[in-house]
Amino acid sequence: MERLQKVIAHAGIASRRKAEQIILDGKVTVNGKVVKELGIKVSPSDRVEVEGIPLEREEPVYFLFYKPRGVISSVQDEKGRKVVTDFLPVIKQRVYPVGRLDYDTSGLLLLTNDGEFANLLMHPSNEIDKVYVAKTKGIPTRENIKALQRGIQLEDGKTAPAKVKMLSFDKRKQTAVIEISIHEGRNRQVRRMLEAIGCPVIKLKRERYGFLTLAGLSAGDMRELTPHEVKQIRVMATSKSS
Ligand code: URA
Repeated sequence: MERLQKVIAHAGIASRRKAEQIILDGKVTVNGKVVKELGIKVSPSDRVEVEGIPLEREEPVYFLFYKPRGVISSVQDEKGRKVVTDFLPVIKQRVYPVGRLDYDTSGLLLLTNDGEFANLLMHPSNEIDKVYVAKTKGIPTRENIKALQRGIQLEDGKTAPAKVKMLSFDKRKQTAVIEISIHEGRNRQVRRMLEAIGCPVIKLKRERYGFLTLAGLSAGDMRELTPHEVKQIRVMATSKSS
């Protein structure tokens, strides 16, 4: 569900501000009824008309992006740094990232213009596993790993149990590579979890999002999700959040 003024703006009819005025002026109907309030939300199945003309919704598009390090998970940056949408092919839709990866984190990021899909995936009750591979300064002990698996107390509460595997370690350099799978999406969560056990992140990459992987892609590559993948990921999120 998306706010009516946003849907009108996204259809390219007017800016968000102008769309609000059009609604207040009583020029918009939803399923045949005039709507003059700004708060209401509509779904893709609702029929929206502006001055009697049905809204042409943007065709939904879904991309899987291998974000390189040093790119902002945003559609613009006031400092002129590279943003994820710089990597899109030329399309008329306005897409945005589903959630975010830190500037210094690489890996799998989804982009779409489908607000309902994005909200579904970002809803806290959606428990889609995200798998990260982290290189750490310091080698986590067995106790550290168990603590991560049980959940770690962070300043915004205890983390849900994580799946954690030590992939390798280098005793001389005192570094380790660990795989960590979480389904929450708190800000800088993996970095904060590893910091909390005294093994700060040197490098972080998101390898997997549910069943989606980076297979066949190099950093900076973007591909469209197949309709089947979109359906599967939607089913996965819906069944987890119900
Ligand atoms: N956890 C982090 O710490 N950073 C990310 O970019 C994603 C998850």
